[in-house]
Amino acid sequence: MEKKFDVVLWGATGFTGQLVAEYLAKHADTAVKWAIAGRSQQKLETVQRKLATINASLSDLPILVGDSHDKASLEAIVSQTKVLCTTVGPYAKYGDLLVEICVEQGINYCDLTGEVPWIRKNVETLHDKAQETGARIVHCCAFDSIPSDLGNLMVQEHALAEYGRPCDTVKFAMYSASGGISGGTIASLLEIVKEAGKDKEFRKMLANPYNLVPGKKPDWSQTDQTRGRYDEDFGFWTGPFMMAGINTRIVRRSNHLLGNPWGKDFKYSETMRIPGGVTGRIGAHAFSTGFGLFQILAAIGPTRRVLETAVLPKPGEGPSEEKRESGYFKTKLLGFIPAQGSEPQIKVEGVVVGQKDPGYGETAKMLGESALCLALDEQTSGGGILTPASAMGMTLVHRLRNAGMTFMVESGPA
Ligand SMILES: NC(=O)c1ccc[n+]([C@@H]2O[C@H](COP(=O)([O-])OP(=O)(O)OC[C@H]3O[C@@H](n4cnc5c(N)ncnc54)[C@H](OP(=O)(O)O)[C@@H]3O)[C@@H](O)[C@H]2O)c1
Repeated sequence: MEKKFDVVLWGATGFTGQLVAEYLAKHADTAVKWAIAGRSQQKLETVQRKLATINASLSDLPILVGDSHDKASLEAIVSQTKVLCTTVGPYAKYGDLLVEICVEQGINYCDLTGEVPWIRKNVETLHDKAQETGARIVHCCAFDSIPSDLGNLMVQEHALAEYGRPCDTVKFAMYSASGGISGGTIASLLEIVKEAGKDKEFRKMLANPYNLVPGKKPDWSQTDQTRGRYDEDFGFWTGPFMMAGINTRIVRRSNHLLGNPWGKDFKYSETMRIPGGVTGRIGAHAFSTGFGLFQILAAIGPTRRVLETAVLPKPGEGPSEEKRESGYFKTKLLGFIPAQGSEPQIKVEGVVVGQKDPGYGETAKMLGESALCLALDEQTSGGGILTPASAMGMTLVHRLRNAGMTFMVESGPA
């Protein structure tokens, strides 16, 4: 059915929402029909005026008003668009009704949540219904988990095209990065740590490497790295990567949703490079200890309140424009195609690079392009609670390359 809008951006007044709105104002084709939406007409008008300074034709950009907890207002907004793109989080707090309505109406949806328990709940309760209605619900269209999910897809597509066989193991390393964090992200992170501090079953679910593949027996050899160690394959010291607990689950769900093209026993892990030789060793251990300590402090009521009120950014706050523009990230992927008969083992090396700060500058690009991809590009997947790789695949990689991100891959005997 013809819709009034290609994309509605829900949460356009928030810190990240405004960046996504600016991204669309600068980069969406003039033929794209889009609107900004949120809970405050006044705040949305301020955003609209700002967007008009980027692109004068946006002075009458449509504004839609609703509330995350008001069903009728959300139904009216969702019914007008092909794609609902949302930056309203924490998603476990504000996202339930919206995602349910998109599923009900068969509307495509993308977000930048990294809240695994919430995604798991949606997988369990909404996946079947979304398959029926054709709603393509795509979580994690941001720094978590696009470089991981599409980086792995790129490596595997290369392996299959060049050698006819997938990599049975892919390792991802956050090689270097510079950027900041926003109040909304802190709020989302603290909600999960708080819950994990109280509930043993919840901690067990978080630790399960297959928590987004219901029914799959946990493979505990694939648990996330918690200590510093030297990685022989990468050739550097490493520590735990904060987002591994999200990204690895999304990559494993992609394999599941695509029908296990990388094998039922495919192994995927994430780590973070700690620079330096001898100092790298010390740094890797110190970082791992600090990482564990932060989780403990955030789980305990009084110290969590100090973090929330005195140390960390509040909702609506985030890194300055200067910090976002000077930020960057570089990730490396190593895939291994096992030796077979006379064929040697093959090493596939991938790189994903972003030119702005990962969580905001490049995240606005990744989410904005995901929304445009879902609205405008030919769709190959059906409905469901999907991942970027299973929903948009290499089409989104091409879009992100055109938007300035690097996705590179090469291979040879290991
Ligand atoms: N995955 C990633 O890489 C990544 C990166 C960045 C952010 N994020 C996630 O994105 C989310 C937003 O972060 P942020 O820093 O942009 O947050 P934020 O600045 O606090 O923005 C939150 C937005 O939600 C809106 N909102 C709050 N309650 C609402 C309600 N009842 N109805 C409708 N709208 C409501 C706010 O509207 P008002 O302006 O009217 O208050 C605002 O637009 C978080 O979940 C964060 O974790 C993820």
